[in-house]
Amino acid sequence: MSIPLCNPSTFASLLLPISTSLLSLTTTPVTNFSASVPAITRLTAPAISYTGLSFCNVTLTYTHPGQNDSVIVETWLPASNATANTTAATSPWNFRLLAVGGGGWAAGRYDFPYYGMKGAIGEGYATITTDAGLGSATTSREWALLSEGNVDLYKLQNLMSVSLRDVGEIGKEVARSFYGEKPRYSYWNGCSQGGRQGMMLAQRYPGLFDGILAGAPGIYWSEAMGGFEWPQVVMNEMGRWPYSCEVVAISKAATTWCDGLDGVVDGIVGDVDGCLEGFDPFEMVGTEIECDNLGGRTVEITEAAAVVVNKTWHGRETVEGKRRWYGLTPGSDLIANGLGVAETNCTSGSCIGEPNALGKDWFELFIAKSSTFNIQNLTHKELDRFVQASKQEFGSMADTVDTDLSEFARQGSKMISWHGLVDQLLAPKATEKYYQDVSALLPNTSDFYRHFEIPGLEHCLNGSSGNPTELLAQLRAWVEEGVAPESSPVNVTRLNGQTEARVLCPYPKKATFDASCTTGECWVCEDAARPPLAL
Ligand SMILES: *[C@@H]1O[C@H](CO)[C@@H](O)[C@H](O)[C@H]1NC(C)=O
Ligand SMILES: *[C@@H]1O[C@H](CO)[C@@H](O)[C@H](O)[C@H]1NC(C)=O
Ligand SMILES: *[C@@H]1O[C@H](CO)[C@@H](O)[C@H](O)[C@H]1NC(C)=O
Ligand SMILES: *[C@@H]1O[C@H](CO)[C@@H](O)[C@H](O)[C@H]1NC(C)=O
Ligand SMILES: *[C@@H]1O[C@H](CO)[C@@H](O)[C@H](O)[C@H]1NC(C)=O
Ligand SMILES: *[C@@H]1O[C@H](CO)[C@@H](O)[C@H](O)[C@H]1NC(C)=O
Ligand SMILES: *[C@@H]1O[C@H](CO)[C@@H](O)[C@H](O)[C@H]1NC(C)=O
Ligand SMILES: *[C@@H]1O[C@H](CO)[C@@H](O)[C@H](O)[C@H]1NC(C)=O
Ligand SMILES: *[C@@H]1O[C@H](CO)[C@@H](O)[C@H](O)[C@H]1NC(C)=O
Ligand SMILES: *[C@@H]1O[C@H](CO)[C@@H](O)[C@H](O)[C@H]1NC(C)=O
Ligand SMILES: *[C@@H]1O[C@H](CO)[C@@H](O)[C@H](O)[C@H]1NC(C)=O
Repeated sequence: MSIPLCNPSTFASLLLPISTSLLSLTTTPVTNFSASVPAITRLTAPAISYTGLSFCNVTLTYTHPGQNDSVIVETWLPASNATANTTAATSPWNFRLLAVGGGGWAAGRYDFPYYGMKGAIGEGYATITTDAGLGSATTSREWALLSEGNVDLYKLQNLMSVSLRDVGEIGKEVARSFYGEKPRYSYWNGCSQGGRQGMMLAQRYPGLFDGILAGAPGIYWSEAMGGFEWPQVVMNEMGRWPYSCEVVAISKAATTWCDGLDGVVDGIVGDVDGCLEGFDPFEMVGTEIECDNLGGRTVEITEAAAVVVNKTWHGRETVEGKRRWYGLTPGSDLIANGLGVAETNCTSGSCIGEPNALGKDWFELFIAKSSTFNIQNLTHKELDRFVQASKQEFGSMADTVDTDLSEFARQGSKMISWHGLVDQLLAPKATEKYYQDVSALLPNTSDFYRHFEIPGLEHCLNGSSGNPTELLAQLRAWVEEGVAPESSPVNVTRLNGQTEARVLCPYPKKATFDASCTTGECWVCEDAARPPLAL
C-alpha cells in the first residue's frame, strides 16, 4: 500500500540547518501498523494500543561538513488510520511534533525511544529520534577514542548538545514538507540521558521546543559520574567489598523503619530527609541475614556494608572530608541487578568491586583517555581529581548546569522536570538543587518551569509508584491553553498489593494524606518547608 506524498521528492527541497549537509534520505510507507505500548515506556503518558495505523517513515543521514560525522534522524509522520479511513496525508496529524530522548550512552534510535515514538504516533504526533551520530553503539567504548589519548570531541558534542538543535529543526522541516505546515507546537519527552537532553534544549536552544519534559535528568554530568563511582571508591579505600545481600538488607530495613515517618505505612519513604537523619545503618551491623549471593547461607551484616551505605546516602566527599555532591535516598536499590552503584562481584569466595558501567566509561575513556585504563581500584584521591578534570575539560559541553532560563521563559516555553525519590542512579536532590537555583535567579520560575518529585519511583520507571502518566497532557495544556499543572495524578502500589490513586505536587509543595477526608480525594498538595540545599 502506498501513502500519498511518502516519497523522497516530497522532501527534495528540505531546508536543513546551515551547519549540516544531507547525505541520504529514505522514505518508507508503513501501513497497517499495530502497537501495544506500556505506560512505563512512554514515561509521562498513558499506555496505548492500536491497530491499522499508517505513517511515513522519513529517515535521513547528514553530516556537519568538516567534522566527518554521520548522524541519523528518523521521523514518523502519521498518515491515516483504519478507524478514520482516510487516505489523505493530512487529517490524522495532531499538528504537533513530539521528539523522544535516549538513555544511558544512547541519544535515541533504540528500543526504548521507539516505544515512545509508537506511543506518540498513536496520539497523532509526528515523532522523531536521533542517534546523534553514534550509530547503534550502546556504550561509548565504540566511539569515545579516536586514538589513545584523543577523545572524539565532535561525537561527544553531538551527543551532548548539537544533535538536539538539529533534531528540533529537522523535525519541524520534515513535517512542513509533508503536511504543508510546520508543527503548531513542538515537545520533548525524555528521561535520564533523555532528561538531560531536554534540559540542554531549555538551556542552550530556548524557543526550539515549546514544551519540555525532563525526567531524572543526568544534569551536573561530572558530579553524576562521580556519584556513580563514589560507593566503589569507599570500598576500595576500606579494602572491603561487602556482599550485595548486606547492602540490600540495609536498604530494605531503612524502607521499613522510615515508611511511617510521613504518617502513612505503605512501603514508600515519603520523608526522605527524616529517614536519613533517623535511621542508623550501623545499628544493622551484626544482624544475621540469608544471603542470596551465597545461595541462602546466613551471614552477619558487616561494618563495611554500613559504611558503604552511609557514605552513599550522604553523597560524595573529598579526601579532606568536604561534601561535594548529594547522595542517593535511603531505601533506593544500591544493587539493582547490575545497574546499581554499590555492586560487588563475589565469585570464588572473595569479593571485588563492580564499577558502575556509565561512570567507568566516562572516567576511563574521556578523562583517562585510555582504552586500557581500569578504574577497578580507583582511589579517593583519583576520584577527586577525575571529577575536577571532568568539569574543567567537559563542563560546558556536558554538565548541563546553566540555571539562567530567562530566554526560555521569554520565548514562552514551558518545562516540567520530574524525579523518582528512590532513583538508584541519579540523586533526586541534584534536580531539586537545579530547581532551587533557577528559582533563586528568576523570581517567577513557576510561571514557566515546574518540578515534581515522585515518592516510590525508581530511575525513570518501576518501584512502588507508577509513572506520572498525565504530565505530557498537562504540559500541552500549559503550553497551549496557559493552564499550569497544580498537581498530577499517580498510581502507587501499597504493601498489600493494592493500587491507590494519589497526587504529585509541584515543588516546593508536597502531597500529604488528609486523614479526615470523606471523599476519594484524600491526598492533597500542601506547602512544605524546603530549606536551600547545602553541600
Ligand atoms: C492488518 O494487520 C492485522 C493484524 O494486526 C491483520 O489481521 C490484518 O489482516 C491486516 N490488514 C491488512 C489489510 O493487511
Ligand atoms: C524507518 O526507516 C529506517 C531507514 O530505512 C529504518 O532503519 C527503520 O527501521 C524504519 N522504521 C520503521 C518503523 O519503519
Ligand atoms: C569521513 O572521512 C573518510 C576518510 O577521509 C571519508 O571516506 C568519508 O566519506 C568521510 N565521511 C563523512 C560523513 O564525511
Ligand atoms: C473507507 O474508504 C473506502 C474507499 O474509499 C470506502 O469505500 C468506504 O466506504 C470507507 N469506509 C468508511 C467507514 O468511511
Ligand atoms: C484515528 O481515527 C479516529 C477516528 O476518526 C480519530 O479519533 C483518531 O484521532 C485518529 N488517530 C490518528 C492517529 O489519526
Ligand atoms: C555517615 O557518613 C557521614 C558523611 O560522611 C558522616 O558524617 C557520619 O559520621 C557517618 N556516620 C557514621 C555513624 O559513621
Ligand atoms: C565477576 O568476576 C569474575 C571473575 O573475575 C568475572 O569472570 C565475571 O565476569 C565478573 N562478573 C561480572 C558481572 O562482572
Ligand atoms: C586491583 O588490585 C588488586 C589487588 O592488588 C589486583 O589484583 C588487581 O589486578 C587490580 N586491578 C586492576 C584493574 O588494576
Ligand atoms: C512576576 O509575576 C508577577 C505577578 O504575575 C509580576 O507582577 C512580576 O512583574 C513578575 N516578575 C518578573 C521579574 O517577571
Ligand atoms: C521494570 O519493570 C518491568 C515490568 O515489571 C520489568 O520488565 C523491567 O525489567 C523493569 N525495568 C527495570 C529497569 O528495572
Ligand atoms: C491509574 O490506574 C487506573 C486504572 O488502571 C488508570 O485508569 C489510570 O489512568 C491510572 N492513572 C495514572 C495517573 O496512571
